[in-house]
Amino acid sequence: MKTALITGATDGIGKATAKKLLSEGWKVIIVGRNAARCNATVSELKAATKNYEISAIVSDLAILNEAGKACAVFLQENKSLDLLMLNANAIANDRIITSEGFEQNFALGFLSRTLMIKKLEQVLKNTPNSQILSVVGLDTVRLDFEDVTIQNSFTGRKALGRWQWSMNVFTREYSSKQTIPLNLYMPGLVKTKILANEPQPMRAFVKLMNVLVGISVEQSAQNVFSIMNDIEANKKSGACYSWKKERSFPKVEMKSDDQKRLWDLTDSLIKPYLQVHFL
Ligand SMILES: NC(=O)c1ccc[n+]([C@@H]2O[C@H](COP(=O)([O-])OP(=O)(O)OC[C@H]3O[C@@H](n4cnc5c(N)ncnc54)[C@H](OP(=O)(O)O)[C@@H]3O)[C@@H](O)[C@H]2O)c1
Repeated sequence: MKTALITGATDGIGKATAKKLLSEGWKVIIVGRNAARCNATVSELKAATKNYEISAIVSDLAILNEAGKACAVFLQENKSLDLLMLNANAIANDRIITSEGFEQNFALGFLSRTLMIKKLEQVLKNTPNSQILSVVGLDTVRLDFEDVTIQNSFTGRKALGRWQWSMNVFTREYSSKQTIPLNLYMPGLVKTKILANEPQPMRAFVKLMNVLVGISVEQSAQNVFSIMNDIEANKKSGACYSWKKERSFPKVEMKSDDQKRLWDLTDSLIKPYLQVHFL
């Protein structure tokens, strides 16, 4: 039986993908920040799919210590991992510095994802045809290496763009170094709650676009499933998928040493959490 670990699967694309994989006979472990929502999702998906191989790990992934613990809990109970789907996100439109000193969007969208990749690297390597899919949007804003916590002119959009830029650049570097396929998935506009708190007039625009061109979470989960199969069949790594097809990597603003600079920065920021043995 194949095993998937999906972050942010108490709602939206993550939850629909969990349901799809359960109905295809997979074992699924979801990660969510709220225990009640995790329990409700597990019960709902068991009832809907009649596949009881679903469980939840409660973890606020904006906190690296918790992301590390979630990986340790997973590893205690699982010997293989076919799909690591890095999907959790919530856009913080206010500048929040976490208890660990990181800007919250960057911690949740980028640092916790890279930490999970590193923590789960060995089990992924041990599982034939395993893969990592990181779910991102199209907008990117080059990281200001001198102002990683965005003290200057913070906006939620800038923070979102910066972690997505970082994931984008990290994926290229990771794929040039590692053997586990890491690919980006851009779902397009999907009818979920994620953009509901956007400041106006963006909120009204998104609402309208959702009605006009937004796709359902079920369609998005179907797209994820097709993409996973394409990645496995064609041994893709460091590729970018949009909707259900591979697309060219979006052009991002990048200076010549950014890839290495980001790699080194990431290493230094997540290192303390890599060294801790959580259980
Ligand atoms: N929908 C779109 O049009 C669209 C477009 C481009 C990219 N994306 C990306 O697609 C991914 C999925 O988004 P979605 O649209 O499905 O949004 P969603 O319905 O809001 O789902 C996001 C999930 O992430 C979880 N989450 C949020 N913060 C978390 C935290 N600190 N720790 C653990 N889990 C957390 C949420 O938990 P709760 O249930 O507790 O809120 C929820 O389960 C995101 O990465 C998003 O940026 C979406």
